[in-house]
Amino acid sequence: MESKTILKVNNVNAFYSGIQALWDVSFTVEKGEIFAIIGSNGSGKSTLLKTITGIMRPASGEVEFMGKRIDGIAPHSIVELGISHIPEGGRLFPDMSVQENLEMGAYISRVWKERKETLAHIYDIFPVLKDRQGQLARTLSGGEKQMLAVGRGLMSKPLLCLFDEPSYGLSPKFVTEVFHVIESLRERGITILLVEQNVRHTLEIADRAFVIENGRVCLEGRCNELLNSEYVKKAYLGL
Ligand SMILES: Nc1ncnc2c1ncn2[C@@H]1O[C@H](COP(=O)(O)OP(=O)(O)OP(=O)(O)O)[C@@H](O)[C@H]1O
Ligand SMILES: [Mg+2]
Repeated sequence: MESKTILKVNNVNAFYSGIQALWDVSFTVEKGEIFAIIGSNGSGKSTLLKTITGIMRPASGEVEFMGKRIDGIAPHSIVELGISHIPEGGRLFPDMSVQENLEMGAYISRVWKERKETLAHIYDIFPVLKDRQGQLARTLSGGEKQMLAVGRGLMSKPLLCLFDEPSYGLSPKFVTEVFHVIESLRERGITILLVEQNVRHTLEIADRAFVIENGRVCLEGRCNELLNSEYVKKAYLGL
């Protein structure tokens, strides 16, 4: 029988020059779901994503993607396997055009040949990027930059997308749009791991989530349960 689990993180511990940032973090993500990570500033959310994308090597513990150990593998090999990371702030190439930025996202052997078709597909999802394909990335508005970062992440045709605060700094209209895009990716069968500060909106669209505090998972469950949890209401929803 085919496994439903796409990502398995098992007892991961990670350090920055001797200071422990993640403590025994374990969770699994099922194929086709939106799994959210909630936590305050400095709680270890981005660090956790970095241990999955190979930017950071856990000191102990395992990360498995589609049943294969990936901790310790180089970041580009992890992209090749089908994981895409849309980092905090997007990390665009500011002096390259919209189209060149998108093409950089397809710079792996698995998808390079099909990049023209993929690009057309991304322009269907984000017509705003098509209209601005020749414009330099640094001259885009904040919302347009975020769309470009998401579009570039999709150019590698990922099975699993990791989003690090995609709604950060956006006006309410763009926040809604980014959340719509994420939901539409799930409809296309892409699994999503979503880090967000916009807790209510996130728990409304995600299937399951956990709360991380000081590098430790302190609460985990289905999002409808978390929305009703007294702890989440008090600490994250301001109720
Ligand atoms: N390169 C680094 N060197 C040393 N310490 C780091 C480094 N990156 C992160 N840290 C520390 O690790 C802890 C977790 O940071 P991390 O970036 O994972 O938090 P976060 O949950 O993503 O926070 P935010 O919501 O502010 O983005 C913080 O205390 C941070 O100062
Ligand atoms: Mg972060």
